[in-house]
Amino acid sequence: MGALWATVALAQDEGDPVRGAALYAENCLACHGPQGEPLAAHEAFSAEIHYDTGFAEAVAAGVEGSLYMKPWSEAYGGPLSEADINDLRAYARTWASGEIPPLPAPEIPADLEPVGRGDPALGAALYQTYCAVCHGPEGQGRGDPDRFPPIGAHADVLTATRRGTEKGMPPFAQVNGGPLSETDITNIMAYVRTWDRPSALQKVAENSPKGVGLLIWLMGIGAVVTVGGVVMMNRSAESKE
Ligand code: HEC
Ligand code: HEC
Repeated sequence: MGALWATVALAQDEGDPVRGAALYAENCLACHGPQGEPLAAHEAFSAEIHYDTGFAEAVAAGVEGSLYMKPWSEAYGGPLSEADINDLRAYARTWASGEIPPLPAPEIPADLEPVGRGDPALGAALYQTYCAVCHGPEGQGRGDPDRFPPIGAHADVLTATRRGTEKGMPPFAQVNGGPLSETDITNIMAYVRTWDRPSALQKVAENSPKGVGLLIWLMGIGAVVTVGGVVMMNRSAESKE
């Protein structure tokens, strides 16, 4: 009886590496290589995962001071349970054993119609790997809007993906040390554009008079500020002479 319980406890403690592989693809692959190796040059992608020491602690509580490695455990406001983290560790341990369960392939919707430039099917696969971890499988977000915000079909994918953002979205473009080529980014944009397309376009049509009005108003303010700034600069330049 004692031996049986010991086996059960051990099995629980060791975790399920196959489930861990699925969790890894969903949550970690955007920044870490398939086996915890550096993925690209920028600091967001160049960490190496040590599966033997400190793994569960780093995943649960995040790495202090890191803009990118935030806490993943529910205890720290993240999306993963203790059992999830245990299964992730079980997957990470297989990197040394050589018997590594395959990471599940991204699921690509069948009926994607191109909207403008780029290939939405290629983009869907890239989106699943690099973006869904924070923005959800179809841009609906994943809870905490500061960390996992929703993005819509008309979001500025090019700018955000090239440069990253201050709240911890890494810069994904190769020119900025990330893993994605310009073609990859165009394909991701093509996929994002396919979401909820009719209603998104309808909304634009309904809102455009107001939207254009606001834009012109903002441009007006921008012009006043720019002219004002130039005048001030000229004055201060004169006063220095
Ligand atoms: C947004 C990018 C990003 C995501 C997503 C991410 N990490 Fe990290 N991770 C990093 C960075 C960057 C570091 C290095 C932090 C530092 O040292 O400043 C790091 C560090 C770590 C470390 C500690 C490094 C070590 O010495 O072992 C572990 C473990 C780790 N990550 C595991 C994971 C796991 C597991 C997931 C998925 C649940 C994950 N990370 C998701 C970017 C990320
Ligand atoms: C580690 C989490 C994370 C990952 C991974 C991530 N993002 Fe973001 N993203 C964010 C956060 C947080 C914001 C909001 C940033 C802010 O307000 O500073 C954001 C903002 C954006 C925006 C601007 C929002 C808007 O409506 O205009 C777009 C577009 C975007 N992300 C697209 C992507 C794409 C495409 C990918 C994959 C290549 C990606 N993100 C990967 C966290 C992430």
